[in-house]
Amino acid sequence: MAPASIKLITGVRVEEVMSWGLQNRLSRIIKPSTRRTVMLAVDHGYFLGPIKGLENPRRTITPLLPYADALMLTRGVLRTSIDPATDVPIVLRVSGGNTIAGPVLGDEEIVTSIEDAIRLNAAALAFSIYVGTEHEHQTLKALAQLVDLGETYGIPVLAVTAVGRELEKRETKYIALACRVAAELGAHFIKTYYTPEFEKVVDSAPVPLVIAGGPKLETELDALKLAHEAINAGAAGVDFGRNVFQSSNPVGMIKALRRVVHEGWSPTEASEDLGQVVAR
Ligand code: 5RP
Repeated sequence: MAPASIKLITGVRVEEVMSWGLQNRLSRIIKPSTRRTVMLAVDHGYFLGPIKGLENPRRTITPLLPYADALMLTRGVLRTSIDPATDVPIVLRVSGGNTIAGPVLGDEEIVTSIEDAIRLNAAALAFSIYVGTEHEHQTLKALAQLVDLGETYGIPVLAVTAVGRELEKRETKYIALACRVAAELGAHFIKTYYTPEFEKVVDSAPVPLVIAGGPKLETELDALKLAHEAINAGAAGVDFGRNVFQSSNPVGMIKALRRVVHEGWSPTEASEDLGQVVAR
C-alpha cells in the first residue's frame, strides 16, 4: 500500500494540490524521512476540563515535548504553558464552545480566529466534526469555512472525527463515512479512531490519517499494538493523548511510540524498553 502522503487523487499527488506554504507546514508535522508522525494531543481540557494527567499542563507537557513531532492544543494552554522558543510545530485546536457538563456534545464552532492562529505561528488548525449527530451540519460547514481560511494563508486543517458520547458509531462504516466527508470538504489530514478493517478507511479517504488513542488502555503494550496495527493498515501516524500522559511512564511511552511509528519496532520490543532512556 502506498504511504499516506503519496496517496493519489485522480493521478495527482496530494502534495501537488497544496500550496508551498501548506506543504511546508504539513511536512513539519508528517516527517518526510518516514512519511509518519507521532503527535502529542493535550487539547482535552477544552471540553473535559482538568482530566487526569493533564491537571497542570506545563508540568505534563514539558518533559514530553522533545519527543513530539507536533503538539495539539488550544491557544490558552499554548500561551500559558509552552516555551515560545520551542521548534515543535503547533496543531492549534480552534473548535470549542461545549463541555462534558453541557446538554450535548458536538455543539462546537470556530472559537479562535485565523489571525490569532497566524500570530501563534500555528503549523495546522484542528477542528472536530460530529457526523451523525444533530451538530453534523454546523460542524461540517465550519470545517469547510476553516479549510477556505487555511488555504488562503497556507495553513493545513486537521479534521477530528469526534465521537463523544456516540461511541457506538466507532465502527468501520461510520469512521469511513466521517473521514471521507472530511476529505471531500478539503481537510488536509484527519484524526480518527482505529477500527477493524482500517485499510478500507485509509483507502477511501485520500488524505493522511492519524489515529487517536482514546481512553487509557489497560497496558502500554495495548496502546503500542494499536499504533502498530494502524500504521500497518496505512495510517500516517498517531495523535495520542491519554495513552501517553496517563501512562505511569509518559516519557518512556512516547519514546516507545516513536520506535513503533518511525522505526518499525514491534510493540513487544518497544515496550521492553519503556523504562530506559533512549536518545531521539
Ligand atoms: C477529542 C480529541 C481529544 O481532545 C484528544 O485529542 C484525543 O486524544 P486521545 O484520545 O489520544 O486522548 O481529539 O475528539
